[in-house]
Amino acid sequence: MNRNIFISLSLCVFACCGMLTALDSSQIGREVAIPVHLQDGEEYVLSTRELIEFGKKLFTARWTSQEGAGRPLTKGTDNPLSDPLAPLVFPRNFNRISGPDTNSCAGCHNLPDIGGGGDIVSNVFVLGQRFDFATFNQTDTLNTKGALDERGLPVSLQSIANSRKTIGMFGSGFIEMLARQITADLQAIAAATVPGTARALTSKGISFGQIVRRLDGTWDTSLVQGISAPSLVTSGQAPPSLIIRPFNQAGNVISLRQFTNNAFNQHHGIQPEERFGIGVDADGDSFVNELTRADVTAVTLFQATLPVPIQVIPKDVDVANAISNGRRVFLDIGCGRCHIPQLPLQRKGWIYTEPNPYNPAGNLQPGNAPVLAVDLTSDELPGPRLKPTGDVVWVPAFTDFKLHDITSGSDDPNREPLDMNQPAGSQAFFLGNGKFITRRLWGIANQHPFGHHGMYTTMREAVLAHHGEAEKPYTAFQNLSKYDQDCVIEFLKSLRIVPDKRPQHFAAEPST
Ligand code: HEC
Ligand code: HEC
Repeated sequence: MNRNIFISLSLCVFACCGMLTALDSSQIGREVAIPVHLQDGEEYVLSTRELIEFGKKLFTARWTSQEGAGRPLTKGTDNPLSDPLAPLVFPRNFNRISGPDTNSCAGCHNLPDIGGGGDIVSNVFVLGQRFDFATFNQTDTLNTKGALDERGLPVSLQSIANSRKTIGMFGSGFIEMLARQITADLQAIAAATVPGTARALTSKGISFGQIVRRLDGTWDTSLVQGISAPSLVTSGQAPPSLIIRPFNQAGNVISLRQFTNNAFNQHHGIQPEERFGIGVDADGDSFVNELTRADVTAVTLFQATLPVPIQVIPKDVDVANAISNGRRVFLDIGCGRCHIPQLPLQRKGWIYTEPNPYNPAGNLQPGNAPVLAVDLTSDELPGPRLKPTGDVVWVPAFTDFKLHDITSGSDDPNREPLDMNQPAGSQAFFLGNGKFITRRLWGIANQHPFGHHGMYTTMREAVLAHHGEAEKPYTAFQNLSKYDQDCVIEFLKSLRIVPDKRPQHFAAEPST
């Protein structure tokens, strides 16, 4: 069909959406998940609850080719295909490795409820999306342009992707706000560092090492710890951004919104306006404006306001005693050095705002739109909720927001083949990665499977995989009595996601 007709048709659907009741007959025979999108501006008019409900609808929507699903001419990285003469149209419209790979966000994020983690079958082959159409089938990959790796070598399993397990977003609004506060603290320290001095980078009691400013005003980041490479780039007198990237297990993504924009294009071929432009058909599927700014705000807010995980202590006295002993042992042997039991969210940080002030280009940034604020402690949101104690909300996430290498070295099978925090195709990229953010343990007990790859079926296996920077607590764990070891596991088993099932709270509405 003529592309211009299609564009004007879809523009009309957007422009006329307020009149949709009158136009309902035009929906007859139309097969779409989201017949009416939010219009920019509506995010400030709808109630928080309505906005979150719509966000959940977008998160569970099973997108169709009649509303822009698929990306015939773009990769999951947002870039054009290497070979535009072989577009990603049927039968190349889905691909488990380079994507699009699923119909909805909830297709992967659904355990123990929508917005949570996923079974190993929902693993993502992270970085596979830099190829047009990469499969594990030698014949296919060798025959497909754009499937040579950056060294010009035929793609092998090892050079395609890192297999990552789907992790969940319960409590993630508090996580993003903690990360913003840590970033602000670290940036203030760097800003106050005069040439010829070094300063300790500390926030919320967490040490991120030291920042050194040379006499000539340039920066030395070699003593900074636990912050991912893209946030350490410096140029001349400009300090490194030191932005904490709490999302994605290798610490690559700054905000829920940034992740959401990435994911819509990568997994579903749905292009948000703020990433691809208004009226632009970047992927050549004849649809423009596939996701409005207000849509992205709604789906981001749905994730940010998901209930927080809690500790569930059973009535059985023996089990309850084991849990409390397990927590004590966990702290005694040094697990809490990285899995910090709780961190303080201060300065009204529980008022979640969109956009995140540190969002990179291609995502809504401050000044692009009025700020939208939501109180994460409000009882109007689905519970359980955290509450302020005085002027602090304590967030029991069991993390330090830092990257650590807990592998035993270059031949540890827990290392990944590719380092996504290095430029794709560089030597450092192919050296692989052993650094991951200290996994947040809240809600861990019903977030099977375990490990960044999801290859462990029990938490005990994940604990026994701790080496490198965690060698000491690992050895201490090994030296515990069997009962104390079991108590640590029993303690981990008490950290659960308990989704709010009260009917008045955001009952799932079936999409198409
Ligand atoms: C094919 C499965 C799959 C689909 C579909 C999917 N995700 Fe994910 N998601 C993952 C995996 C795997 C991770 C962990 C990624 C990593 O660690 O690199 C993840 C991580 C995330 C995170 C970061 C969580 C954290 O704490 O680090 C967010 C946010 C997220 N996804 C949002 C979405 C949204 C929004 C959609 C739909 C537009 C979506 N995802 C679709 C598998 C999926
Ligand atoms: C040096 C920091 C550090 C210390 C100390 C540490 N951990 Fe971890 N922990 C991590 C990191 C990093 C991960 C993520 C590893 C990965 O996914 O490859 C992790 C992951 C885990 C997981 C897996 C969660 C999941 O879903 O995959 C569990 C369980 C865990 N740690 C428990 C413990 C226990 C128990 C101890 C004490 C014996 C401990 N950790 C000590 C950094 C640490």
